[in-house]
Amino acid sequence: MAPSPPASTSPTEQIKNFLEYILTPSAPVITVGLLIVFLVPLLLHFWITRKTPYTSLPTILLAGPSGGGKTSLLTLLERGDKAVETHTSQVAQAVELTVSSDEGASTYREAAKEDAPGSHKKFHLVDTPGHGKLRGIALSQLQSSKKNKNNSSSSSQSQIGDPSQLRGAVFVLDAATLDESLSDSATYLYEVLLSLQKRAGSSRTSRSPKAVDVLIAANKMDLFTALPASLVRSNLEAELGRIRQSRSKGLLDSGVGADDDVVGGGSGAGEEDNWLGEYGSEKFTFAQLREFDIEVEVLGGSVLEGKVDKWWGWIAGRI
Ligand code: GTP
Ligand code: MG
Repeated sequence: MAPSPPASTSPTEQIKNFLEYILTPSAPVITVGLLIVFLVPLLLHFWITRKTPYTSLPTILLAGPSGGGKTSLLTLLERGDKAVETHTSQVAQAVELTVSSDEGASTYREAAKEDAPGSHKKFHLVDTPGHGKLRGIALSQLQSSKKNKNNSSSSSQSQIGDPSQLRGAVFVLDAATLDESLSDSATYLYEVLLSLQKRAGSSRTSRSPKAVDVLIAANKMDLFTALPASLVRSNLEAELGRIRQSRSKGLLDSGVGADDDVVGGGSGAGEEDNWLGEYGSEKFTFAQLREFDIEVEVLGGSVLEGKVDKWWGWIAGRI
């Protein structure tokens, strides 16, 4: 009878030996195990961060009615000395700016400089056109995802940057002509705030994007007709309340929201979804938006005179 082959060379034996070897505590096995545990997440991190395009920088959006001073503000911050002549914008544009974490030195003049003191954070400032027909561009930037773009006003526009990186919206308006343009400005602001409110509402069920605060930048304070920030605030609140009231009446008459396509709120959105702030309340105040994590601030300034440090501070606080 032929002798059977030595047991240690059979495949099952080999596997058994191997398992025994790696399951027995020994210095080389533990070292290799530890290396894998610590190195894999690190390598994965570097691989992912290297692959992320620079467009996913935090974003601040400039919105507001035409002539408010958005493009002037953007060029002022980009150049760091003074604003240049601007023309009515027709497309969105973005610039990359740097905020310094050094509180005291954080003025807009350092915006474009890389060598300012403290540590630096880059972000994108996105300018949008304020003309009535082009407001869909700004509103599409406020949506929480890249879908919902096949509606009429924003079909040809793509969002700049990563929507989940939106950190704040600066609503620039002309405080000197607010009396005449109150209704138009407030209507636009209503759309902006409602988009953000819907964004916050949708995040309760899905991955939550960061809260987006709103700064109402009351510009052109250099002109003597300019309303002070407190009046800009109360006038807007009163007008937003009126808009809210008349919209809800319109909805009751017509059934479902006729403005749904503007904000891309989805079909079948009822009255409650299109109501800005605390549902059913009589007076509108910006404080009602806190429920949706939206903090609204009104600050005065003047691009022409370079008095934008309060706004710059607000932006720096969101980056
Ligand atoms: P659209 O692109 O049409 O949405 O307007 P915009 O918001 O970009 O306005 P833009 O920056 O083009 O400014 C409109 C006008 O306001 C320009 O003639 C600016 O010179 C002027 N302007 C901007 N800021 C100030 C300011 O602080 N004071 C005064 N007096 N004028 C300003
Ligand atoms: Mg412009």
